[in-house]
Amino acid sequence: MTERADLRSHGPSGILRPGIRTYKPRRTRITERQERALQQQAAFIIPVGTSPIDTIAVWGIDVPVVMEIGFGDGLAAAEMAAADPTTGLLAIDVHTPGVGGLLARVGDASLTNVRVMEADALVVLTRMIEPGSLHGVRTYFPDPWPKARHHKRRIVQSEVLDLVHSRLQVGGSWHLATDWVEYADWIRACFGEHPGWTGGVIDRPRWRPVTRYERRALHDGRMITDLVFRTVAAT
Ligand SMILES: C[S@@+](CC[C@H](N)C(=O)[O-])C[C@H]1O[C@@H](n2cnc3c(N)ncnc32)[C@H](O)[C@@H]1O
Repeated sequence: MTERADLRSHGPSGILRPGIRTYKPRRTRITERQERALQQQAAFIIPVGTSPIDTIAVWGIDVPVVMEIGFGDGLAAAEMAAADPTTGLLAIDVHTPGVGGLLARVGDASLTNVRVMEADALVVLTRMIEPGSLHGVRTYFPDPWPKARHHKRRIVQSEVLDLVHSRLQVGGSWHLATDWVEYADWIRACFGEHPGWTGGVIDRPRWRPVTRYERRALHDGRMITDLVFRTVAAT
């Protein structure tokens, strides 16, 4: 195993049934720039482990921490982090070239508020995030898994809603966007059935940059839906 492969965890989160993943394996080649960034910006990588991330040590006491699940090429994540330097961004994806890409942007823009993990976000949420510690979660254009037999791979499902709910502060938010109308309906239905969440479809916030995946969807004429759900205290 290479040193970098040690940073990853594709092991089970214990949240989904064994063998079920929310992501597709991809074999994109890593570029020299991405490879270099993985070495040179290693200080911005948080390796996967079992101890909780000390968010105060990483970002400071009053800094709200937002997790982005599945940042893809990282362009939008880096833009959001640059526009909001007083928020700590914990950016997670399983795809090595994307991790290298985001780290390269972190270096280019001298961003200090971003930390990057090459990991299954469900594993990180389960093992490394303290209950009630996140200010927000972002998931833009999650894999839609359109076939009925693959719905169990969707990141939005009741077990994951329970998990994210437990890691967010009361009033914390999960912002999602999708170009798949049926998935938007699915998301609304899942959150609607959960007593711990309130929210629904919103106008696209101006601060959310167009992501790489979204650009293709817009080019192909698909409608984009943004949704925000907030946690409510148990009664
Ligand atoms: C369709 S792509 C969208 C990427 C990006 N947000 C965009 O809009 O361009 C979905 C991304 O989510 C990542 N992903 C899916 N499940 C994940 C998980 N459990 N943990 C971390 N990343 C995940 C995939 O590797 C992929 O990069």
